Amino acid sequence: MSIRCAIVGCGLVAEEYARTLKASSLVDLVSCSDIEAERAQAFAARHAIGEVASVDELDTELVVVLTPPALHVEVASAAIRAGMSVYIEKPLALSSSDAASLLALAADHGVLVGAAPDTFLAPPVQSAAQALATGLIGEPVAATAALLSPGPERWHPHPEPIYDLGPLLDMGPYYLTALIHLLNPITSVRGATTAIRPLRTKASGDTFTATAPTHVDALLQTADGVSVTVTTSFDVQGTTRPHLEVYGTEGTLVLPDPNFHHGVVRLRRRGEVTWDFLAPALSRFDVIGRGMGVLDLAGTLCGGGRGQATGDLALHVLQVIEAIGWAAATGTCQAVPNAAVTAARAKGPAR
Ligand SMILES: NC(=O)c1ccc[n+]([C@@H]2O[C@H](COP(=O)([O-])OP(=O)(O)OC[C@H]3O[C@@H](n4cnc5c(N)ncnc54)[C@H](O)[C@@H]3O)[C@@H](O)[C@H]2O)c1
Repeated sequence: MSIRCAIVGCGLVAEEYARTLKASSLVDLVSCSDIEAERAQAFAARHAIGEVASVDELDTELVVVLTPPALHVEVASAAIRAGMSVYIEKPLALSSSDAASLLALAADHGVLVGAAPDTFLAPPVQSAAQALATGLIGEPVAATAALLSPGPERWHPHPEPIYDLGPLLDMGPYYLTALIHLLNPITSVRGATTAIRPLRTKASGDTFTATAPTHVDALLQTADGVSVTVTTSFDVQGTTRPHLEVYGTEGTLVLPDPNFHHGVVRLRRRGEVTWDFLAPALSRFDVIGRGMGVLDLAGTLCGGGRGQATGDLALHVLQVIEAIGWAAATGTCQAVPNAAVTAARAKGPAR
């Protein structure tokens, strides 16, 4: 059985999704939609998608929302009201209250919400999760994550909307989702933000002003007391800091960048001086790449158990991000709601 699905928003990231969805037997990509009709037509032709439709005309079981973030809620709400489940790119919404309302709307209509990022479903984070579950590094003590970059204006022709989100809302979901999956939901945060260089220059030479902080440091605490440091920045010209490390009483795990689906996980055990490589975890999906989260949701719609890339998880990530902003603005420690993800975790592994 495969789930009939449609893509809304035929831009940059949709190309990767189309390749993943077309290669999987779990979904049937039958329709696509874009506010720019010609873009949708060309996308459909490129990926052998049978139908181009407006959002109102879509009639599938699952709609994949790949529009710019400011439109995620509007487009997803329309699909939900028409009785379709939705999978939404990151960030789920621009605020946690909008995201919570969207999840409530879906519950009212009896449909499901899945959400990006899905990189944590890929072998690197899954290998690390297995290592933690089997006690390979003992009890987790602390973790660190970093996305340190000079900013997307080097390569992105229209980077302004990304600077309205800032590095934490734009890129933080990859790092936070992986950390929460590996460790536990977050209960409290502290933060510090700066915007030292708000005037940015595009490759074209044109300038624009960043509206969100461009460097964010955060100190998080998980439900079981593990300390996590997270830095996201568009102000760093070079770094040797790793993307993601987890420290345990019996060893350390070093993960590749959780913005991607590939790479090796390194392990150093207590008392040893060399590093081993973890064997890659076997994937439960028939394709690895951006769009795996859609397959995760399709599996649930087919009756295959609880999904992992859920709207509840994405909402929690958004709540962490918002709380970091409040903590930084007020110089306080902020509590983070986590009831839904904690309850889901208590039920045990999703599949
Ligand atoms: N570009 C990337 O590398 C990347 C990677 C991961 C995640 N994302 C996420 O994917 C989403 C899309 O990003 P992108 O880079 O592909 O953007 P994009 O601007 O390249 O594409 C967005 C598409 O949505 C269309 N669109 C806008 N409003 C619409 C509407 N109301 N109805 C239908 N279509 C509409 C646009 O015409 C455009 O074709 C964002 O949420 C982003 O955060 C992007």
